[in-house]
Formats: sequence, C-alpha cells, structure tokens
Amino acid sequence: MARQKVIEGGASGGGAGSIPPDPPLGQFNPDDERFDDELRPQKLNEVVGQRKVVGRLKIVLDATLKRKEALGHILFDGPPGLGKTTLAMTLAREMGTECQITSGPSLMAPKDLLSYLTNASYGSVLFIDEIHRLPPAVEEFIYPVMEDFRVDIVLGEGLNARTINMKLKPFTIIGATTRSGMLTAPLRDRFVFREHLDFYDVTDLTEIVRRNARKLRTEIADDAAGLIADRSRGTPRKANNLLRWTRDFATVHEATGNITRPIADDALAMLEVDSLGLEAQDRRYLTTLVNVFSGGPAGVAAIGHTMNIPPDTLEDEVEPFMLRLGFIQRTPRGRTITAAGLRHLGLTPPTDEGGDRQPRLF
Ligand SMILES: Nc1ncnc2c1ncn2[C@@H]1O[C@H](COP(=O)(O)OP(=O)(O)OP(=O)(O)O)[C@@H](O)[C@H]1O
Ligand SMILES: [Mg+2]
Repeated sequence: MARQKVIEGGASGGGAGSIPPDPPLGQFNPDDERFDDELRPQKLNEVVGQRKVVGRLKIVLDATLKRKEALGHILFDGPPGLGKTTLAMTLAREMGTECQITSGPSLMAPKDLLSYLTNASYGSVLFIDEIHRLPPAVEEFIYPVMEDFRVDIVLGEGLNARTINMKLKPFTIIGATTRSGMLTAPLRDRFVFREHLDFYDVTDLTEIVRRNARKLRTEIADDAAGLIADRSRGTPRKANNLLRWTRDFATVHEATGNITRPIADDALAMLEVDSLGLEAQDRRYLTTLVNVFSGGPAGVAAIGHTMNIPPDTLEDEVEPFMLRLGFIQRTPRGRTITAAGLRHLGLTPPTDEGGDRQPRLF
C-alpha cells in the first residue's frame, strides 16, 4: 500500500479578521505534532473502542477498495479529543491515498478552497477540520463539489457575468466538527456517512493507556493504567496527557521510572485532577455558576466572560462532560447546576434541605 502523504495548508493561520494565508500546497510537514502524533493509531485495527463506528467504516472501506472507487464523503462529529482527526487520517492511510488537510476558519473565500480541489487526485482525501466554521460563501461553493465533483466559477459581474463549470476528479471530503448542530442541513446532507463519536468507557481507555505506555517505553501497573483511564473523562486525548504527566512524575520520583499505583495517585493529586477527572477549570465553571449566578440559569457567554474564558472553549471542552455527568442542564434560558453538580462541590442542594433555594456550604 502506498505511503500516505499528508499535505497541510492554512489550518493554523487565518483566524477571523486576519488576511487569509495562501495554502502552502505541496508542502509536506511530517513534524507537525497535530498530525503525526506518536500516540495516534496509524491503522483502523489499532483504533481502540468506537466499535460500531469502526465496524461500519471497515465495511465502507473494504467495499470502496474492492470497487477501486473514491470513498463517500464522511462527517465525524463529537467532543474534542475523541478521535475525529485520528479516524480521518487512518482512513486515508488505509486507502493508500494522499490526504490534504485544512480547516473551516482558514477557508475564508471560495478561492482558498480552489487550489485544494484542483490538487485532489482520484480517490484522495481532503480533511476539513472545524467544518461548522466554513463561511456561507465557501459552503455554497462546496455543494456542487460534493455532489457532482464540479466547481462553478463566476467570472465578471452583472450582465457580463459568466459561469464556468470545471470537472474535478472524484475524491473524498472528510469533515470534522465538535458542533454538528451548527452545520446547515444542506451541508450535513451532502455527507454520505455521518458518524457521531461518543465518550469512551474505562475499559477502552485503560487499553489505550496500556498501549501508549508501551509506545512511550514506560512500564505501567494495571491498577495505575486503570486509575488514569478513570480520570480521563472518557477522552483518549486526556488519557494521553495524563499518561505523559504521570510518566514525567515517575521519572522524577521513582528510581525505575515505572508508573505504580501510588505514583499515579500522587501525580494526579498534584495536577488537581479530582475523583471524576474534573480539573481546576471544570470546578471553577461549577463554582462560578453557583457563586455568581446563584446556580443558574446563566448564558454560556456570561459565564465565559466572568471566568475570562472564551464561551466556545466552555461549550467544547467543559460542558459536554458536565452534561454527561448530569452536573448541569442546558435550558432555553441558560445553564443550571443540578443537585449532583452541587453535591460534587460539597454543597447541599436545596431539595436535600426541604425547599431552601440557596445552595449552602456544608
Ligand atoms: N480510538 C482511539 N484509540 C486510540 N487512541 C485514540 C483514539 N482516539 C483518539 N486517540 C488518541 O487521542 C488523541 C486525540 O485524538 P484526535 O486528535 O483524533 O481527536 P479529535 O476528535 O480530532 O479532537 P479535536 O476535536 O480537538 O480535533 C490522538 O492523538 C490519539 O493519540
Ligand atoms: Mg481533530
């Protein structure tokens, strides 16, 4: 199988308001950490968990390889760090094709996309990260691309305007988003396969920690791997980060450098990761909701401004797991802390006290 070539362009450059960078086409960047992470599974068989999703992808992949066609367009959605980019990269690698990488915010105008399209070879993959942030003009431009592998370029203006149609080679767009709700229906519908990635269970995360410790050439006790998995909030990226931290901690505090359970306990305590895997920022979110907004309802923008954290970060990185734990509720009027959330902070929920509305410290 041909070695996969990763061509990255513009993904880190053009935030809103900045001048869009010209995509550095043909540039090969194997050192980019985001895309050549030593811990990232390289093949579909190395992907742990998400069994139903992987099972379906394998069928589609095998069928496509047998027919020697391009894969249908795929959309991955789910919270950060659950494997959207990983799956996109492994699929391109399994197809043995080239993979160009870009992202919604860096495609500010249709012309930014054009070079990727003309560069896409038969069956190759174009990975568009944060696809919910494509500007409307680019989104409309991409519709005929996805449906008919055709671009419609308008030349001139007014009465003199002419549309030129250009045929493209069939290729695959893989989109990734943490906010599928922000995708317009026409864009979502143009993806042939849509897969939602959910949080991982502790068994799968333990397996990821064990495998990755081997990759990092570190010995880890089973109960230590279990502890890290348990504190990873269902997220492989968190598991990897905690593993790396615990390994550093072990290198400093343990002569052998091995990760034992007591070492893992101490390492996580020093990082202020609590029994559910919540970090200081997560707890601050909950205490802000209680102390500043009387438990809610409060809009995420207001909470973000109070905490001095972009609301998007809260929506992407903090709230999904809080919702999953049942610590907050999202209502049309804003976020509200639940009795379980209050108890986790060591506060007495009003219902436990017979109708007292104000949460109180024990
Ligand atoms: N199923 C998996 N098996 C093993 N490792 C995984 C799996 N999914 C993710 N990882 C690990 O977690 C890291 C983060 O995954 P990835 O970058 O694919 O997340 P993402 O969903 O694209 O996140 P974001 O929304 O922030 O872009 C990867 O580098 C990889 O090491
Ligand atoms: Mg990603």
